[in-house]
Amino acid sequence: MNASCSPKLRVRGVWKFFGRDTSAVPALRDIHLDIADNAFVTLVGASGCGKSTLLRTLAGLEPHSAGELLCDGRPIGGPGPERAMVFQHYSLYPWLTVSQNIRFCRELAINTRERTSAGVEAASGRADALLRLMGLFHVADAYPGQLSGGMQQRVAIARALMGRPQVLLMDEPFGALDAQTREVMHDLILHVHRLERTTIVFVTHDVDEAIYLGQRVVLMAPRPGRIDTVYEVPLPALRTQDMKLAPEFLALKREVLARIRSTSGVQTDFELLEQLSHTASTALAPEPRASHR
Ligand SMILES: Nc1ncnc2c1ncn2[C@@H]1O[C@H](COP(=O)(O)OP(=O)(O)O)[C@@H](O)[C@H]1O
Ligand SMILES: [Mg+2]
Repeated sequence: MNASCSPKLRVRGVWKFFGRDTSAVPALRDIHLDIADNAFVTLVGASGCGKSTLLRTLAGLEPHSAGELLCDGRPIGGPGPERAMVFQHYSLYPWLTVSQNIRFCRELAINTRERTSAGVEAASGRADALLRLMGLFHVADAYPGQLSGGMQQRVAIARALMGRPQVLLMDEPFGALDAQTREVMHDLILHVHRLERTTIVFVTHDVDEAIYLGQRVVLMAPRPGRIDTVYEVPLPALRTQDMKLAPEFLALKREVLARIRSTSGVQTDFELLEQLSHTASTALAPEPRASHR
């Protein structure tokens, strides 16, 4: 295989155990996944199926127990500047302004390694470009506490992009946002992906989000965490919100939802309701009275 077609990220037979010896529980079982350069891949599945664990091992934040994780053919042995992570909670520094938050890590690197005026100038230009790209220019001097959740997450994304990472690892980054803000963020992150040509691995438990954003949807299943199915998304590369009503979108959504239900052992809403109402009626039934003689 030549270098141009080797994947950006390669996961080969990866296992992850939490705990030791007899109490060790596999959180990931024999994961195999190749992610091409500039791909947008979404990981979806029920809670506890190992999505965050897989993402954290790719970030180098979590050691794996067996197998191989490679970025550009090199083993991932810890965090690296070529892989940036964005979490659900924005983790911004509340005492720094938006602009300072975005520049902070880059300035730290400049101060410790490469303090040249060209370096500082390039960082400053990059920060301004990101402020514009993320629609943050007018709030550059505001503090995170003065911004909405959506705005704060834009700052977190801009900060992650500041060092020009080749890979962006996102763990339910829009999970805390309302539905309308999420839609705006979806189109924004797709725009960022086209413009920056970053490889994106995006974790979500929202099937609509997984299909709308992903070129491929990787469905994971729990106990132990494993890859169940990889779906190619049959939608044009340039997404528009009305595609969420397209027959291909809805058919894939139905298929993925059914698979999540059957692999996670979660019943359909209807079965669950029946079970709940049975439990409730048993609990509410009058207890048989003790007879008094
Ligand atoms: N630090 C940890 N220590 C022990 N078990 C963990 C730890 N982190 C995750 N797990 C377990 O690993 C499994 C996968 O968790 P996680 O990757 O967070 O799932 P997801 O992100 O899909 O909800 C779960 O059973 C979870 O309880
Ligand atoms: Mg998670």
